[in-house]
Amino acid sequence: MARILVTSALPYINGIKHLGNLAGSMLPADVYARFQRLRGHEVLAICATDEHGTPAELAAAAAGQDVAQYCDEQHEVQKALGERFNLAWDHFGRTSSDWNMRLTQHFAETLEANGLIAEVVEKQVYSIDDARFLPDRYVEGTCPNCGFEKARGDQCDNCGKLLDPIDLIEPYSAVSGSKNLEVRDTRHLQLRQTEMEDRIRAWVDAAEGWPPLAKSIAYKWLDEGLRDRTITRDLKWGVPVTKDGAPREGFEDKVFYVWFDAPIGYISATAEWADATGNDWESWWRTDKGADDVSYVQFMGKDNVAFHTVSFPATILGSQEPWKTVDKLKAFNWLNWYGGKFSTSSKRGVFMDQALELLPADYWRWYLTAYAPEGGDAQFTWEHFQGVINTDLANVLGNFVNRILKFAASRFDGVIPEGGETGEHEAWLAGEVDQRLKAIAAHYEAMEFRKAGAETRALWAAGNEYLTRAEPWSHFKTDKDKAAVGVRTGINLAVLSAIVAQPVIPETAAKILDAVGVPEGNRTWPSDAGAVLLDALPRGLGFAVPDVLFAKIEDEQIAEWSERFGGAV
Ligand code: 2FM
Ligand code: ZN
Repeated sequence: MARILVTSALPYINGIKHLGNLAGSMLPADVYARFQRLRGHEVLAICATDEHGTPAELAAAAAGQDVAQYCDEQHEVQKALGERFNLAWDHFGRTSSDWNMRLTQHFAETLEANGLIAEVVEKQVYSIDDARFLPDRYVEGTCPNCGFEKARGDQCDNCGKLLDPIDLIEPYSAVSGSKNLEVRDTRHLQLRQTEMEDRIRAWVDAAEGWPPLAKSIAYKWLDEGLRDRTITRDLKWGVPVTKDGAPREGFEDKVFYVWFDAPIGYISATAEWADATGNDWESWWRTDKGADDVSYVQFMGKDNVAFHTVSFPATILGSQEPWKTVDKLKAFNWLNWYGGKFSTSSKRGVFMDQALELLPADYWRWYLTAYAPEGGDAQFTWEHFQGVINTDLANVLGNFVNRILKFAASRFDGVIPEGGETGEHEAWLAGEVDQRLKAIAAHYEAMEFRKAGAETRALWAAGNEYLTRAEPWSHFKTDKDKAAVGVRTGINLAVLSAIVAQPVIPETAAKILDAVGVPEGNRTWPSDAGAVLLDALPRGLGFAVPDVLFAKIEDEQIAEWSERFGGAV
Protein backbone atom coordinates (compact mmCIF):
# COMPACT_ATOMS: atom_id res chain seq x y z
CA MET A 1 0.00 0.00 0.00
CA ALA A 2 1.44 3.33 -1.06
CA ARG A 3 0.83 6.72 0.54
CA ILE A 4 -0.37 9.21 -2.02
CA LEU A 5 -0.80 12.92 -1.40
CA VAL A 6 -3.09 14.58 -3.94
CA THR A 7 -3.55 18.33 -4.20
CA SER A 8 -5.46 20.41 -6.69
CA ALA A 9 -4.73 24.04 -7.43
CA LEU A 10 -6.42 26.11 -4.76
CA PRO A 11 -9.42 27.95 -6.20
CA TYR A 12 -9.44 31.70 -5.67
CA ILE A 13 -11.97 32.84 -3.14
CA ASN A 14 -13.39 35.42 -5.55
CA GLY A 15 -16.66 33.72 -6.41
CA ILE A 16 -18.05 30.43 -7.57
CA LYS A 17 -15.86 28.54 -10.01
CA HIS A 18 -16.90 27.70 -13.56
CA LEU A 19 -16.79 24.30 -15.21
CA GLY A 20 -13.40 25.08 -16.75
CA ASN A 21 -11.87 25.51 -13.28
CA LEU A 22 -13.49 22.29 -12.14
CA ALA A 23 -12.29 20.34 -15.18
CA GLY A 24 -8.71 21.58 -14.97
CA SER A 25 -7.83 20.75 -11.38
CA MET A 26 -10.39 19.90 -8.70
CA LEU A 27 -12.27 17.20 -10.60
CA PRO A 28 -9.32 15.24 -12.05
CA ALA A 29 -7.64 15.41 -8.64
CA ASP A 30 -10.74 13.85 -7.14
CA VAL A 31 -11.04 11.18 -9.84
CA TYR A 32 -7.39 10.27 -9.35
CA ALA A 33 -7.71 10.20 -5.55
CA ARG A 34 -10.81 8.02 -5.76
CA PHE A 35 -9.08 5.64 -8.17
CA GLN A 36 -6.07 5.28 -5.89
CA ARG A 37 -8.31 4.67 -2.87
CA LEU A 38 -10.08 1.91 -4.81
CA ARG A 39 -6.69 0.38 -5.48
CA GLY A 40 -6.25 0.15 -1.73
CA HIS A 41 -3.73 2.96 -1.30
CA GLU A 42 -3.68 5.44 1.55
CA VAL A 43 -4.66 8.71 -0.09
CA LEU A 44 -4.75 12.18 1.38
CA ALA A 45 -6.68 14.63 -0.82
CA ILE A 46 -6.13 18.26 0.05
CA CYS A 47 -7.61 21.45 -1.32
CA ALA A 48 -8.35 24.92 0.07
CA THR A 49 -9.55 28.34 -0.91
CA ASP A 50 -6.82 30.76 -2.01
CA GLU A 51 -7.92 33.77 -0.02
CA HIS A 52 -5.31 36.48 -0.21
CA GLY A 53 -4.18 39.13 -2.60
CA THR A 54 -5.95 41.40 -4.98
CA PRO A 55 -8.52 38.83 -6.22
CA ALA A 56 -9.96 38.62 -2.70
CA GLU A 57 -9.78 42.34 -1.92
CA LEU A 58 -11.35 43.40 -5.20
CA ALA A 59 -14.14 40.84 -5.05
CA ALA A 60 -14.98 41.82 -1.46
CA ALA A 61 -15.04 45.48 -2.45
CA ALA A 62 -17.32 44.71 -5.40
CA ALA A 63 -19.64 42.81 -3.04
CA GLY A 64 -19.53 45.73 -0.59
CA GLN A 65 -18.22 43.46 2.15
CA ASP A 66 -15.40 43.41 4.60
CA VAL A 67 -12.77 41.14 3.09
CA ALA A 68 -12.50 38.74 6.05
CA GLN A 69 -16.24 38.30 6.19
CA TYR A 70 -16.39 37.89 2.41
CA CYS A 71 -13.80 35.12 2.62
CA ASP A 72 -15.64 33.38 5.47
CA GLU A 73 -18.81 33.26 3.41
CA GLN A 74 -17.28 32.36 0.08
CA HIS A 75 -15.20 29.61 1.63
CA GLU A 76 -18.40 27.94 2.87
CA VAL A 77 -20.06 28.43 -0.52
CA GLN A 78 -17.16 26.81 -2.39
CA LYS A 79 -16.84 24.02 0.14
CA ALA A 80 -20.53 23.17 -0.12
CA LEU A 81 -20.41 23.19 -3.91
CA GLY A 82 -17.35 20.96 -3.95
CA GLU A 83 -19.16 18.53 -1.69
CA ARG A 84 -22.25 18.58 -3.93
CA PHE A 85 -19.96 17.68 -6.83
CA ASN A 86 -18.74 14.80 -4.67
CA LEU A 87 -15.20 16.09 -4.46
CA ALA A 88 -14.08 13.77 -1.68
CA TRP A 89 -11.40 15.93 -0.07
CA ASP A 90 -9.91 14.83 3.18
CA HIS A 91 -9.67 18.51 3.96
CA PHE A 92 -10.74 21.72 2.30
CA GLY A 93 -8.76 24.38 4.09
CA ARG A 94 -8.11 28.10 3.85
CA THR A 95 -4.95 30.02 3.10
CA SER A 96 -6.07 32.66 5.61
CA SER A 97 -5.53 30.14 8.42
CA ASP A 98 -3.09 30.63 11.28
CA TRP A 99 -1.11 27.68 10.04
CA ASN A 100 -0.61 29.30 6.68
CA MET A 101 0.46 32.56 8.26
CA ARG A 102 3.01 30.83 10.47
CA LEU A 103 4.40 28.61 7.74
CA THR A 104 4.61 31.46 5.22
CA GLN A 105 6.51 33.61 7.71
CA HIS A 106 8.70 30.64 8.54
CA PHE A 107 9.62 30.07 4.91
CA ALA A 108 10.38 33.74 4.29
CA GLU A 109 12.58 34.00 7.37
CA THR A 110 14.37 30.76 6.50
CA LEU A 111 14.99 31.91 2.94
CA GLU A 112 16.37 35.17 4.28
CA ALA A 113 18.67 33.32 6.68
CA ASN A 114 19.91 31.38 3.65
CA GLY A 115 20.76 34.59 1.82
CA LEU A 116 17.96 34.24 -0.71
CA ILE A 117 15.91 37.31 0.18
CA ALA A 118 16.92 40.84 -0.68
CA GLU A 119 15.26 44.08 0.39
CA VAL A 120 14.91 46.24 -2.70
CA VAL A 121 13.35 49.52 -3.73
CA GLU A 122 10.94 49.00 -6.59
CA LYS A 123 8.86 51.10 -8.87
CA GLN A 124 5.13 50.54 -8.45
CA VAL A 125 2.04 52.13 -9.90
CA TYR A 126 0.52 54.59 -7.42
CA SER A 127 -2.97 56.07 -7.77
CA ILE A 128 -3.15 59.66 -6.62
CA ASP A 129 -6.97 59.66 -6.52
CA ASP A 130 -7.17 56.40 -4.59
CA ALA A 131 -4.21 57.40 -2.39
CA ARG A 132 -2.68 53.95 -2.62
CA PHE A 133 -0.36 51.70 -4.56
CA LEU A 134 -2.04 49.56 -7.20
CA PRO A 135 -0.39 46.14 -7.17
CA ASP A 136 -1.31 43.31 -9.55
CA ARG A 137 -5.01 43.32 -10.40
CA TYR A 138 -5.59 46.76 -8.93
CA VAL A 139 -4.37 48.15 -12.19
CA GLU A 140 -5.63 47.29 -15.66
CA GLY A 141 -4.66 48.43 -19.11
CA THR A 142 -3.55 47.30 -22.53
CA CYS A 143 -1.32 44.22 -22.69
CA PRO A 144 2.13 45.09 -24.04
CA ASN A 145 2.34 41.59 -25.48
CA CYS A 146 -0.93 41.10 -27.37
CA GLY A 147 -2.77 44.43 -27.25
CA PHE A 148 -5.71 43.06 -25.20
CA GLU A 149 -7.35 46.13 -23.65
CA LYS A 150 -8.45 44.69 -20.32
CA ALA A 151 -5.21 43.04 -19.24
CA ARG A 152 -4.70 42.83 -15.49
CA GLY A 153 -1.52 44.09 -13.91
CA ASP A 154 -0.27 40.64 -12.96
CA GLN A 155 -1.30 38.61 -15.99
CA CYS A 156 -3.00 39.03 -19.33
CA ASP A 157 -6.17 36.94 -19.51
CA ASN A 158 -5.96 36.93 -23.28
CA CYS A 159 -2.42 35.74 -24.01
CA GLY A 160 -1.56 34.37 -20.55
CA LYS A 161 1.66 36.35 -20.21
CA LEU A 162 2.72 37.27 -16.69
CA LEU A 163 2.99 41.05 -16.49
CA ASP A 164 4.42 43.75 -14.33
CA PRO A 165 1.81 46.47 -13.68
CA ILE A 166 4.23 49.19 -14.77
CA ASP A 167 4.45 47.64 -18.24
CA LEU A 168 0.73 48.10 -19.01
CA ILE A 169 -0.10 50.57 -21.75
CA GLU A 170 -2.66 53.25 -20.78
CA PRO A 171 -3.12 51.91 -17.25
CA TYR A 172 -6.08 52.78 -15.06
CA SER A 173 -7.11 51.96 -11.52
CA ALA A 174 -9.35 48.91 -11.19
CA VAL A 175 -10.85 50.45 -8.05
CA SER A 176 -11.85 53.88 -9.34
CA GLY A 177 -11.03 53.83 -13.04
CA SER A 178 -8.75 56.80 -12.44
CA LYS A 179 -5.95 57.37 -14.93
CA ASN A 180 -4.29 59.79 -12.56
CA LEU A 181 -1.44 57.39 -11.85
CA GLU A 182 2.26 57.71 -11.34
CA VAL A 183 5.16 55.41 -10.65
CA ARG A 184 6.56 55.66 -7.13
CA ASP A 185 9.31 53.94 -5.20
CA THR A 186 8.35 51.36 -2.61
CA ARG A 187 10.36 48.90 -0.54
CA HIS A 188 9.87 45.18 -1.04
CA LEU A 189 11.34 41.73 -0.48
CA GLN A 190 12.66 39.82 -3.42
CA LEU A 191 13.25 36.12 -3.62
CA ARG A 192 16.53 35.63 -5.45
CA GLN A 193 15.44 32.99 -7.90
CA THR A 194 18.44 33.76 -10.09
CA GLU A 195 20.64 32.26 -7.38
CA MET A 196 18.63 29.09 -7.55
CA GLU A 197 18.36 28.56 -11.27
CA ASP A 198 20.76 25.62 -11.41
CA ARG A 199 19.18 23.89 -8.45
CA ILE A 200 15.69 24.26 -9.89
CA ARG A 201 16.78 23.05 -13.32
CA ALA A 202 18.47 20.01 -11.82
CA TRP A 203 15.30 19.29 -9.86
CA VAL A 204 13.14 19.57 -13.00
CA ASP A 205 15.63 17.40 -14.94
CA ALA A 206 15.31 14.72 -12.28
CA ALA A 207 11.50 14.80 -12.27
CA GLU A 208 10.17 11.64 -13.86
CA GLY A 209 6.45 11.61 -13.30
CA TRP A 210 5.48 14.79 -15.11
CA PRO A 211 3.45 14.45 -18.29
CA PRO A 212 4.80 16.47 -21.24
CA LEU A 213 2.67 19.61 -20.82
CA ALA A 214 4.00 20.31 -17.33
CA LYS A 215 7.59 19.59 -18.23
CA SER A 216 7.56 21.70 -21.39
CA ILE A 217 6.13 24.70 -19.55
CA ALA A 218 8.75 24.33 -16.81
CA TYR A 219 11.57 24.33 -19.37
CA LYS A 220 10.08 27.27 -21.20
CA TRP A 221 10.43 29.31 -18.02
CA LEU A 222 13.87 28.01 -17.18
CA ASP A 223 15.10 28.60 -20.73
CA GLU A 224 13.87 32.19 -20.66
CA GLY A 225 16.00 32.65 -17.54
CA LEU A 226 14.61 33.10 -14.05
CA ARG A 227 14.15 36.53 -12.56
CA ASP A 228 14.27 37.58 -8.95
CA ARG A 229 10.70 37.76 -7.77
CA THR A 230 9.05 40.27 -5.50
CA ILE A 231 7.22 38.38 -2.79
CA THR A 232 5.59 41.27 -0.90
CA ARG A 233 2.86 43.72 -1.87
CA ASP A 234 1.46 47.06 -0.71
CA LEU A 235 -1.81 45.56 0.50
CA LYS A 236 -3.62 45.11 3.79
CA TRP A 237 -5.11 41.66 3.34
CA GLY A 238 -2.62 38.83 3.50
CA VAL A 239 0.14 37.33 5.60
CA PRO A 240 1.98 40.07 7.54
CA VAL A 241 5.73 40.40 6.88
CA THR A 242 7.90 39.52 9.85
CA LYS A 243 11.54 39.41 10.85
CA ASP A 244 12.67 37.29 13.77
CA GLY A 245 9.04 36.66 14.59
CA ALA A 246 8.14 40.36 14.98
CA PRO A 247 6.58 42.80 12.48
CA ARG A 248 9.26 43.81 10.00
CA GLU A 249 10.21 47.44 10.17
CA GLY A 250 9.11 49.40 7.13
CA PHE A 251 6.74 46.58 6.10
CA GLU A 252 3.86 47.33 8.47
CA ASP A 253 1.53 48.16 5.56
CA LYS A 254 2.64 45.29 3.39
CA VAL A 255 1.86 41.60 3.15
CA PHE A 256 3.29 38.64 1.30
CA TYR A 257 2.30 38.23 -2.34
CA VAL A 258 -0.60 35.83 -2.74
CA TRP A 259 1.43 33.52 -4.98
CA PHE A 260 4.07 33.26 -2.25
CA ASP A 261 1.66 32.07 0.43
CA ALA A 262 -0.89 30.16 -1.70
CA PRO A 263 1.14 27.01 -2.48
CA ILE A 264 2.33 26.90 1.13
CA GLY A 265 -1.41 26.43 1.65
CA TYR A 266 -1.02 22.82 0.53
CA ILE A 267 1.13 22.20 3.58
CA SER A 268 -0.92 24.30 5.98
CA ALA A 269 -4.20 22.73 4.86
CA THR A 270 -2.63 19.35 5.63
CA ALA A 271 -1.71 20.65 9.08
CA GLU A 272 -5.29 21.92 9.53
CA TRP A 273 -6.50 18.42 8.60
CA ALA A 274 -4.12 16.86 11.09
CA ASP A 275 -5.33 19.17 13.86
CA ALA A 276 -8.95 18.39 13.07
CA THR A 277 -8.48 14.64 12.90
CA GLY A 278 -5.63 13.92 15.31
CA ASN A 279 -3.27 12.92 12.51
CA ASP A 280 0.34 13.76 11.85
CA TRP A 281 0.88 16.19 8.97
CA GLU A 282 4.66 16.02 9.02
CA SER A 283 4.66 12.40 7.92
CA TRP A 284 3.14 13.69 4.64
CA TRP A 285 5.40 16.66 4.15
CA ARG A 286 8.74 16.20 5.90
CA THR A 287 11.09 13.68 4.39
CA ASP A 288 12.85 13.41 7.77
CA LYS A 289 9.52 12.46 9.36
CA GLY A 290 8.39 9.71 7.02
CA ALA A 291 7.32 11.58 3.90
CA ASP A 292 10.07 10.12 1.75
CA ASP A 293 7.74 7.24 0.93
CA VAL A 294 4.87 9.56 -0.05
CA SER A 295 4.03 9.96 -3.71
CA TYR A 296 2.91 13.58 -4.16
CA VAL A 297 0.68 14.36 -7.14
CA GLN A 298 -0.47 17.86 -8.11
CA PHE A 299 -3.26 18.87 -10.50
CA MET A 300 -3.60 22.29 -12.11
CA GLY A 301 -4.43 24.37 -15.18
CA LYS A 302 -1.56 25.29 -17.47
CA ASP A 303 -1.43 28.90 -16.22
CA ASN A 304 -0.40 27.57 -12.80
CA VAL A 305 2.50 25.42 -13.96
CA ALA A 306 5.23 28.06 -13.68
CA PHE A 307 4.27 28.75 -10.08
CA HIS A 308 4.47 25.06 -9.21
CA THR A 309 7.58 24.12 -11.17
CA VAL A 310 9.67 27.19 -10.48
CA SER A 311 8.36 29.58 -7.82
CA PHE A 312 7.08 27.14 -5.19
CA PRO A 313 10.10 24.85 -5.63
CA ALA A 314 12.30 27.94 -5.16
CA THR A 315 10.63 28.45 -1.78
CA ILE A 316 10.88 24.80 -0.80
CA LEU A 317 14.37 24.03 -2.11
CA GLY A 318 15.69 27.40 -0.96
CA SER A 319 14.68 26.66 2.62
CA GLN A 320 17.18 23.78 2.60
CA GLU A 321 14.80 21.99 4.91
CA PRO A 322 13.64 18.44 4.22
CA TRP A 323 10.27 19.24 2.65
CA LYS A 324 8.52 16.89 0.27
CA THR A 325 8.38 18.14 -3.32
CA VAL A 326 5.97 17.13 -6.05
CA ASP A 327 6.52 13.78 -7.77
CA LYS A 328 3.88 13.92 -10.49
CA LEU A 329 2.49 17.11 -11.87
CA LYS A 330 -0.50 16.95 -14.16
CA ALA A 331 -1.45 20.09 -16.05
CA PHE A 332 -4.54 20.73 -18.16
CA ASN A 333 -5.27 22.94 -21.10
CA TRP A 334 -8.35 25.16 -21.21
CA LEU A 335 -11.91 24.11 -21.49
CA ASN A 336 -13.34 26.83 -23.70
CA TRP A 337 -16.90 27.99 -24.02
CA TYR A 338 -17.87 27.96 -27.69
CA GLY A 339 -14.37 28.81 -28.80
CA GLY A 340 -14.08 31.74 -26.34
CA LYS A 341 -13.00 31.68 -22.72
CA PHE A 342 -15.06 30.86 -19.69
CA SER A 343 -14.74 33.95 -17.60
CA THR A 344 -15.44 34.57 -13.94
CA SER A 345 -15.24 38.33 -14.33
CA SER A 346 -17.61 38.51 -17.31
CA LYS A 347 -19.78 35.60 -16.09
CA ARG A 348 -19.38 33.70 -19.33
CA GLY A 349 -20.14 29.98 -19.30
CA VAL A 350 -21.73 27.71 -16.72
CA PHE A 351 -20.71 27.95 -13.08
CA MET A 352 -20.69 25.13 -10.55
CA ASP A 353 -23.92 26.15 -8.81
CA GLN A 354 -25.77 26.62 -12.09
CA ALA A 355 -24.58 23.28 -13.44
CA LEU A 356 -26.16 21.49 -10.49
CA GLU A 357 -29.46 23.30 -11.08
CA LEU A 358 -29.58 21.63 -14.49
CA LEU A 359 -28.33 18.10 -13.90
CA PRO A 360 -26.85 15.88 -11.18
CA ALA A 361 -23.10 15.98 -10.58
CA ASP A 362 -22.34 12.69 -12.33
CA TYR A 363 -23.43 14.00 -15.73
CA TRP A 364 -20.88 16.83 -15.46
CA ARG A 365 -18.22 14.68 -13.89
CA TRP A 366 -18.38 12.22 -16.75
CA TYR A 367 -18.33 14.82 -19.48
CA LEU A 368 -15.55 16.87 -17.91
CA THR A 369 -13.36 13.84 -17.20
CA ALA A 370 -13.83 11.71 -20.30
CA TYR A 371 -13.53 14.78 -22.56
CA ALA A 372 -11.05 16.67 -20.40
CA PRO A 373 -8.95 19.43 -22.00
CA GLU A 374 -5.95 17.18 -22.03
CA GLY A 375 -4.14 17.01 -25.37
CA GLY A 376 -5.09 20.59 -26.23
CA ASP A 377 -7.81 23.08 -25.41
CA ALA A 378 -11.31 21.55 -25.55
CA GLN A 379 -14.56 23.22 -26.53
CA PHE A 380 -17.71 23.04 -24.51
CA THR A 381 -20.87 23.22 -26.59
CA TRP A 382 -24.33 22.17 -25.47
CA GLU A 383 -24.68 19.95 -28.52
CA HIS A 384 -21.48 18.06 -27.76
CA PHE A 385 -22.46 17.72 -24.12
CA GLN A 386 -25.91 16.39 -25.09
CA GLY A 387 -24.41 13.85 -27.51
CA VAL A 388 -21.94 12.57 -24.93
CA ILE A 389 -24.47 12.20 -22.13
CA ASN A 390 -27.09 10.56 -24.30
CA THR A 391 -24.64 8.15 -25.86
CA ASP A 392 -22.15 7.24 -23.14
CA LEU A 393 -24.31 7.44 -20.07
CA ALA A 394 -27.89 6.86 -21.22
CA ASN A 395 -27.44 4.49 -24.18
CA VAL A 396 -24.31 2.64 -23.25
CA LEU A 397 -24.12 2.34 -19.43
CA GLY A 398 -27.70 3.08 -18.41
CA ASN A 399 -29.22 0.91 -21.08
CA PHE A 400 -26.97 -2.05 -20.36
CA VAL A 401 -27.55 -2.04 -16.61
CA ASN A 402 -31.30 -1.55 -16.84
CA ARG A 403 -31.72 -4.06 -19.62
CA ILE A 404 -30.07 -6.91 -17.77
CA LEU A 405 -31.50 -6.15 -14.33
CA LYS A 406 -35.04 -5.70 -15.61
CA PHE A 407 -34.94 -8.94 -17.54
CA ALA A 408 -33.45 -10.83 -14.60
CA ALA A 409 -36.00 -9.37 -12.22
CA SER A 410 -38.94 -10.43 -14.33
CA ARG A 411 -37.70 -13.86 -15.43
CA PHE A 412 -35.58 -14.99 -12.51
CA ASP A 413 -37.64 -13.59 -9.65
CA GLY A 414 -35.14 -10.91 -8.77
CA VAL A 415 -32.40 -13.30 -7.65
CA ILE A 416 -29.05 -14.20 -9.17
CA PRO A 417 -29.83 -17.47 -10.93
CA GLU A 418 -28.02 -20.78 -10.44
CA GLY A 419 -27.15 -23.33 -13.07
CA GLY A 420 -25.55 -23.49 -16.50
CA GLU A 421 -22.00 -23.69 -17.81
CA THR A 422 -20.00 -20.84 -19.26
CA GLY A 423 -19.15 -21.03 -22.94
CA GLU A 424 -17.64 -19.10 -25.83
CA HIS A 425 -19.42 -15.79 -25.14
CA GLU A 426 -18.20 -15.72 -21.56
CA ALA A 427 -14.69 -16.61 -22.70
CA TRP A 428 -14.78 -13.72 -25.17
CA LEU A 429 -16.07 -11.39 -22.49
CA ALA A 430 -13.45 -12.47 -19.95
CA GLY A 431 -10.67 -11.62 -22.38
CA GLU A 432 -12.27 -8.31 -23.26
CA VAL A 433 -12.82 -7.30 -19.64
CA ASP A 434 -9.38 -8.31 -18.53
CA GLN A 435 -7.74 -6.23 -21.21
CA ARG A 436 -9.99 -3.19 -20.61
CA LEU A 437 -9.49 -3.22 -16.85
CA LYS A 438 -5.73 -3.28 -17.21
CA ALA A 439 -5.89 -0.44 -19.71
CA ILE A 440 -8.15 1.70 -17.52
CA ALA A 441 -5.84 1.26 -14.54
CA ALA A 442 -2.76 2.06 -16.63
CA HIS A 443 -4.36 5.23 -17.97
CA TYR A 444 -5.32 6.42 -14.52
CA GLU A 445 -1.82 5.72 -13.26
CA ALA A 446 -0.52 7.84 -16.13
CA MET A 447 -3.20 10.46 -15.37
CA GLU A 448 -4.57 10.13 -18.90
CA PHE A 449 -8.19 10.87 -18.18
CA ARG A 450 -9.56 10.86 -21.71
CA LYS A 451 -8.04 7.49 -22.39
CA ALA A 452 -9.30 6.12 -19.08
CA GLY A 453 -12.75 7.45 -20.02
CA ALA A 454 -12.66 5.87 -23.47
CA GLU A 455 -11.69 2.48 -22.06
CA THR A 456 -14.36 2.72 -19.37
CA ARG A 457 -16.94 3.44 -22.06
CA ALA A 458 -15.61 0.49 -24.07
CA LEU A 459 -16.05 -1.77 -21.05
CA TRP A 460 -19.67 -0.64 -20.71
CA ALA A 461 -20.17 -1.17 -24.44
CA ALA A 462 -18.84 -4.71 -24.04
CA GLY A 463 -21.79 -5.25 -21.71
CA ASN A 464 -24.29 -4.49 -24.45
CA GLU A 465 -22.25 -6.51 -26.90
CA TYR A 466 -22.19 -9.48 -24.56
CA LEU A 467 -25.96 -9.42 -24.12
CA THR A 468 -26.40 -9.29 -27.89
CA ARG A 469 -24.14 -12.32 -28.25
CA ALA A 470 -25.43 -14.35 -25.30
CA GLU A 471 -29.11 -13.49 -25.90
CA PRO A 472 -30.45 -14.75 -22.57
CA TRP A 473 -33.97 -13.67 -23.62
CA SER A 474 -34.09 -15.98 -26.61
CA HIS A 475 -32.68 -18.92 -24.64
CA PHE A 476 -35.06 -18.43 -21.76
CA LYS A 477 -37.83 -20.65 -23.16
CA THR A 478 -35.64 -23.35 -24.64
CA ASP A 479 -32.61 -23.59 -22.37
CA LYS A 480 -33.08 -21.95 -19.00
CA ASP A 481 -29.58 -22.84 -17.84
CA LYS A 482 -28.07 -21.05 -20.78
CA ALA A 483 -30.22 -18.03 -20.04
CA ALA A 484 -29.14 -18.24 -16.40
CA VAL A 485 -25.47 -18.04 -17.37
CA GLY A 486 -26.18 -14.99 -19.52
CA VAL A 487 -28.09 -13.25 -16.78
CA ARG A 488 -25.60 -14.06 -14.06
CA THR A 489 -22.64 -13.00 -16.14
CA GLY A 490 -24.50 -9.89 -17.29
CA ILE A 491 -25.26 -8.80 -13.74
CA ASN A 492 -21.71 -9.48 -12.61
CA LEU A 493 -20.56 -7.40 -15.53
CA ALA A 494 -22.88 -4.59 -14.43
CA VAL A 495 -21.19 -4.80 -11.03
CA LEU A 496 -17.78 -4.60 -12.65
CA SER A 497 -18.90 -1.69 -14.82
CA ALA A 498 -20.06 0.16 -11.72
CA ILE A 499 -16.91 -0.62 -9.74
CA VAL A 500 -14.63 0.88 -12.36
CA ALA A 501 -17.01 3.82 -12.85
CA GLN A 502 -16.73 4.87 -9.21
CA PRO A 503 -13.87 7.36 -9.63
CA VAL A 504 -15.84 9.35 -12.21
CA ILE A 505 -19.53 8.84 -11.45
CA PRO A 506 -19.58 7.85 -7.78
CA GLU A 507 -23.28 8.48 -7.17
CA THR A 508 -24.54 6.38 -10.05
CA ALA A 509 -22.00 3.65 -9.37
CA ALA A 510 -23.23 3.48 -5.76
CA LYS A 511 -26.83 3.31 -6.98
CA ILE A 512 -26.02 0.25 -9.09
CA LEU A 513 -23.90 -1.44 -6.44
CA ASP A 514 -26.52 -0.76 -3.76
CA ALA A 515 -29.30 -2.14 -5.94
CA VAL A 516 -27.39 -5.32 -6.57
CA GLY A 517 -26.32 -5.60 -2.94
CA VAL A 518 -22.54 -5.46 -3.29
CA PRO A 519 -21.11 -4.94 0.21
CA GLU A 520 -18.92 -1.85 0.70
CA GLY A 521 -15.85 -4.01 1.23
CA ASN A 522 -16.26 -5.64 -2.20
CA ARG A 523 -16.23 -2.44 -4.20
CA THR A 524 -12.47 -2.13 -4.53
CA TRP A 525 -10.61 -2.40 -7.82
CA PRO A 526 -10.72 -6.07 -8.86
CA SER A 527 -7.40 -7.86 -9.05
CA ASP A 528 -8.94 -10.79 -10.91
CA ALA A 529 -11.51 -9.55 -13.41
CA GLY A 530 -12.41 -13.06 -14.56
CA ALA A 531 -13.37 -14.15 -11.05
CA VAL A 532 -15.58 -11.09 -10.55
CA LEU A 533 -17.26 -11.71 -13.85
CA LEU A 534 -18.17 -15.26 -13.02
CA ASP A 535 -18.95 -14.98 -9.37
CA ALA A 536 -18.98 -11.49 -7.89
CA LEU A 537 -22.45 -12.09 -6.53
CA PRO A 538 -23.57 -15.17 -4.67
CA ARG A 539 -26.15 -17.20 -6.54
CA GLY A 540 -29.55 -16.87 -4.99
CA LEU A 541 -28.88 -13.30 -3.84
CA GLY A 542 -31.85 -10.97 -4.24
CA PHE A 543 -31.38 -7.66 -6.03
CA ALA A 544 -33.40 -4.57 -6.92
CA VAL A 545 -33.72 -2.74 -10.22
CA PRO A 546 -32.57 0.86 -9.86
CA ASP A 547 -34.64 3.67 -11.40
CA VAL A 548 -33.54 4.89 -14.79
CA LEU A 549 -29.90 5.82 -14.21
CA PHE A 550 -29.59 8.67 -16.69
CA ALA A 551 -32.33 10.70 -18.32
CA LYS A 552 -31.59 11.65 -21.90
CA ILE A 553 -31.09 15.33 -22.54
CA GLU A 554 -33.84 16.54 -24.85
CA ASP A 555 -33.44 19.06 -27.66
CA GLU A 556 -35.85 21.41 -25.84
CA GLN A 557 -33.55 21.45 -22.82
CA ILE A 558 -30.60 22.29 -25.03
CA ALA A 559 -32.57 25.12 -26.61
CA GLU A 560 -33.53 26.46 -23.19
CA TRP A 561 -30.00 26.24 -21.78
CA SER A 562 -28.47 27.82 -24.86
CA GLU A 563 -30.88 30.68 -24.42
CA ARG A 564 -30.11 31.04 -20.73
CA PHE A 565 -26.34 30.69 -20.84
CA GLY A 566 -25.59 31.91 -24.31
CA GLY A 567 -23.68 29.98 -26.86
CA ALA A 568 -21.59 31.05 -29.81
CA VAL A 569 -20.19 34.56 -29.43
O1 2FM B 1 -5.03 30.15 -10.46
C1 2FM B 1 -5.63 30.02 -9.41
O2 2FM B 1 -6.83 29.83 -9.37
C2 2FM B 1 -4.86 30.08 -8.10
N1 2FM B 1 -5.75 30.45 -7.04
C3 2FM B 1 -4.22 28.76 -7.86
C4 2FM B 1 -3.39 28.67 -6.63
S1 2FM B 1 -2.67 27.14 -6.55
C5 2FM B 1 -1.73 27.09 -5.19
F1 2FM B 1 -0.55 27.38 -5.42
F2 2FM B 1 -2.24 27.67 -4.22
ZN1 ZN C 1 -1.84 39.74 -23.66
